[in-house]
Amino acid sequence: MDARYPLTLRRQRQSSAIRNLLADVHLKSSMLVQPYFIYQGLKSSEALPAIFGQLKNTPETLLKEIEKGLENKIQSVLTFHVPQEKKAKDFNYDFDLEIISGVKKRFGHDVVLMTDLCLCSHTLDGHCGFTTPQGDIDNHSSVQELANKALLFAQAGADVISPSDMMDSRIGAIREKLNQGGQEKTLIMSYSSKFSSQFYGPFREAAHSAPSFGDRKSYQIDPRNLKDALASSARDASEGADILMVKPALAYLDILAKVKESYSHLPLAAYQVSGEYQGLKLMSDHGLLSFEQALLETLYSIRRAGADIIITYGANQLGLQLK
Ligand code: PBG
Repeated sequence: MDARYPLTLRRQRQSSAIRNLLADVHLKSSMLVQPYFIYQGLKSSEALPAIFGQLKNTPETLLKEIEKGLENKIQSVLTFHVPQEKKAKDFNYDFDLEIISGVKKRFGHDVVLMTDLCLCSHTLDGHCGFTTPQGDIDNHSSVQELANKALLFAQAGADVISPSDMMDSRIGAIREKLNQGGQEKTLIMSYSSKFSSQFYGPFREAAHSAPSFGDRKSYQIDPRNLKDALASSARDASEGADILMVKPALAYLDILAKVKESYSHLPLAAYQVSGEYQGLKLMSDHGLLSFEQALLETLYSIRRAGADIIITYGANQLGLQLK
């Protein structure tokens, strides 16, 4: 050894066994949540072109996929339901309820069933709430619809209701509605710090939910605004959210760390969104990186920043190699 350069930190990095011993951030398969897309009117499952490696499921193929997920030690799932018909109002939730009750009937308490709660797959214009003739989003009627929908989902067996719409005061309204309807046990995982992001692009194609006019900037958080992100999680915590969330994950690790610091008594989820995942897939398809290793690297960074729960399209693929 060259005496002019004594080893200090490189001692810790010299072998894989020592690196394993000294690693201080860990991932467990129980922290990961696998999202699924389920389409009305589909005869059998198909590849989902917008998000590589994911499927368009029917309610039946969803059960098979969850079964495979369980074999990979992934117990928590987040479902997105894509109805055939778009309408201005008077939505029909029979398809959603068929999915939820099907999963619960088959898996009971073996699976944590989280359901995304939003209006954007139903509305004609693809916005997350009802629009007024002037093109604004009407907060009050949107929240009422979301709360009614949440109660139906809970009654059908959803364990966790996960509102992603970003209307004001929805967490309080949903909690109240659930309690009045005898669903006190249903958890609420709020998309509490959800930014207006380009990284939702692949998802919007998948869920047929791109807005037909304008954008989501009047309800999702401006990427420049840290204070709004903290206020939004604070508001949802005070209204009774059981789990908070930061979304997207990788471009918002600072927010994740700060929300964790302020609300260390609440579990915190991070959503590695479609664009983050698909970006890694595209680079790997071009031979620029190893998908699984890059995915793990991003998940470790999200965990290091403070996430207790990580929602990622790669959950099933990674489950088995984690403890
Ligand atoms: C619907 C919703 C979106 C995502 C989750 N729920 C899209 C959006 O808000 O435009 C994004 C998920 C992803 O990109 O993986 N409100």
